[in-house]
Amino acid sequence: MKAIVYDKYGPANVLKIREIEKPKLGSKEILIKIFETVVTPTDIASRNANPFIIRFFSGFFRPKLILGSDFVGEIEAIGDDVTQFNTGDKVFSSSNLNFACYSEYISLPEDSIISKLPESNFSEDVAGICDAGMTALTFLRDKAKIKAGDKVLINGASGAIGTYAIQLAKYFGAEVTAVCSASNQELVKNLGADHHIDYTKSDFTQKESVYDIIFDAVGKSTFSLCKKALKPNAKYLTTVPTFNIFYHMLISNRFSSRKAIFDATGLSQNKEKLEFLKELLLKKKLKSVVDKKYNMEDVVNAHIYVESGHKKGQVILTIA
Ligand SMILES: NC(=O)c1ccc[n+]([C@@H]2O[C@H](COP(=O)([O-])OP(=O)(O)OC[C@H]3O[C@@H](n4cnc5c(N)ncnc54)[C@H](OP(=O)(O)O)[C@@H]3O)[C@@H](O)[C@H]2O)c1
Repeated sequence: MKAIVYDKYGPANVLKIREIEKPKLGSKEILIKIFETVVTPTDIASRNANPFIIRFFSGFFRPKLILGSDFVGEIEAIGDDVTQFNTGDKVFSSSNLNFACYSEYISLPEDSIISKLPESNFSEDVAGICDAGMTALTFLRDKAKIKAGDKVLINGASGAIGTYAIQLAKYFGAEVTAVCSASNQELVKNLGADHHIDYTKSDFTQKESVYDIIFDAVGKSTFSLCKKALKPNAKYLTTVPTFNIFYHMLISNRFSSRKAIFDATGLSQNKEKLEFLKELLLKKKLKSVVDKKYNMEDVVNAHIYVESGHKKGQVILTIA
């Protein structure tokens, strides 16, 4: 089968298409033909080993991973002891920390975080919901304990996590301020944001005691800078692990009513979250924003685009 591989860490052009062995099927596993996956900032970080800590997960001297964490596909074969799926089922999933979705096939245990696609055809919208959607849900629902009436600011609101976060925050009844550039104002308003701040013209951190939750979906701010804009007992959340956030998690937990929170949401993905998001998709309370689609052969350009840091929602990589 064809897969996108890389033998050394580096710029986008280290990625190559190569024939590799098709995954073997265990008795409790399903073999999935992948239609689409997504290109994420995590893929970029894993490709160029930046931050350095990535090497502890994806190979210290040389990368050992095939990239790609989310997929939409069809089950081509099932192991002898599989009970929940049949060949021909269309499924979507996050391969969680296993990656390996930049390839024509993946085999996964049937009890992985996999959900069947409903009959209605919305496959194009679900490829990216697993990682980005579950991340937004984990931060807002589980960590921030969002509730109706909360004033929520989402920084990086036009990105993959941000576009789901706006819709989820509205679903939970919050008043949402979306921060991104003017070029994405219409997008975030259409997703339900009540207010928009253009970060190139206005600094939301200068506001005083306004927000119950500041969710920095792109990790461009710090707790110290945002503290003034938080109400007492409010929460600051960021997706990006830095020394600064770990320091403030320790300090704010003990000495401040305003809390700083980081979470590695990839470690807490589960079926409940995926089914929750699927229900919202079916009820049309949630939609995915797809910015661009690239063919497998064009993966280098897909990486260059995602690395620019200005994609809107998802960038899809079409495999089959
Ligand atoms: N903690 C976890 O477990 C976890 C899980 C998944 C992902 N992540 C991380 O989460 C981060 C976000 O991922 P993503 O896919 O949502 O990112 P993304 O889609 O690449 O974010 C791009 C968006 O960010 C906006 N943006 C860029 N610079 C900005 C700034 N200075 N202020 C405000 N907005 C800005 C851009 O809007 P404009 O074009 O308008 O500037 C663009 O629409 C990544 O670093 C990723 O590694 C963490």
